[in-house]
Amino acid sequence: MKLVLLGPPGAGKGTQAAVLCKEYNLLHMSTGDLLREAVKNNTAQGIQAKAYMDRGDLVPDEIVAAMITEKLKNEDVSAGFMLDGFPRTKKQAEILDQALIELAMPLDRVVYFATKEETILTRLTGRRICRSCGRIFHVTNIPSKKEGICDGCQGELYQRNDDKEETIKNRIKVYNSQTKELIDYYQAKNILQQVSGDMDVNELFSVLKDTFKKSGLI
Ligand code: AP5
Repeated sequence: MKLVLLGPPGAGKGTQAAVLCKEYNLLHMSTGDLLREAVKNNTAQGIQAKAYMDRGDLVPDEIVAAMITEKLKNEDVSAGFMLDGFPRTKKQAEILDQALIELAMPLDRVVYFATKEETILTRLTGRRICRSCGRIFHVTNIPSKKEGICDGCQGELYQRNDDKEETIKNRIKVYNSQTKELIDYYQAKNILQQVSGDMDVNELFSVLKDTFKKSGLI
């Protein structure tokens, strides 16, 4: 199964990607995670990307596209993959199309998480992430058993730098002006599936599994 998860910040793409990739043994590729890792490790790409990310702007296409094409070429994607947060511009979508033609691995589906703005704000201001294993929590929606501590690995939970209200507002603006047009791009290719990002985690997971089964993707 070769999928793209598309949707506004906080729609729950990372949360669903984690469970779906585990269930179906897919390679999870999140440009947000790759960029945060690059920033943490002070790589040349990370140093260039940091200021854009702190403002909630998009990192230049060539940096993120290089990260994904590199991974597609070098990792084992035979069981399939899930792209989370990429592509985010028409240019990135075209680069992805070309890379997948070269690999003879066309996309099966783009899942678009249609999500209300009030949902996004509540989710992002309450998001907490494990510093060690990356597991995603929410202070009220998906709280950890012990405050500030990951249920899985006991790592410390932290709040992302760009999950402040002002930055979140800019990320939503950027999504509306630069990424939303990809809905039409993939609709025209007849591979877009719209789901409601407002559903709770388990409900959405079941809906996705059901539709994948019904359409023969799994
Ligand atoms: P990135 O990390 O991709 O951020 P994003 O797209 O803004 O998405 P988020 O990670 O914020 O949200 P999500 O949809 O994954 O939600 P999550 O599952 O965590 O990108 C960060 C930055 O990197 C960008 O601003 C940009 O600068 C740069 N960048 C990345 N990719 C790029 C690209 N391709 N091109 C250029 N620049 C790029 O859930 C959110 C919260 O809600 C969590 O607390 C979770 O526990 C909770 N939650 C999730 N689902 C549910 C649910 N169903 N019900 C209740 N709560 C839920």
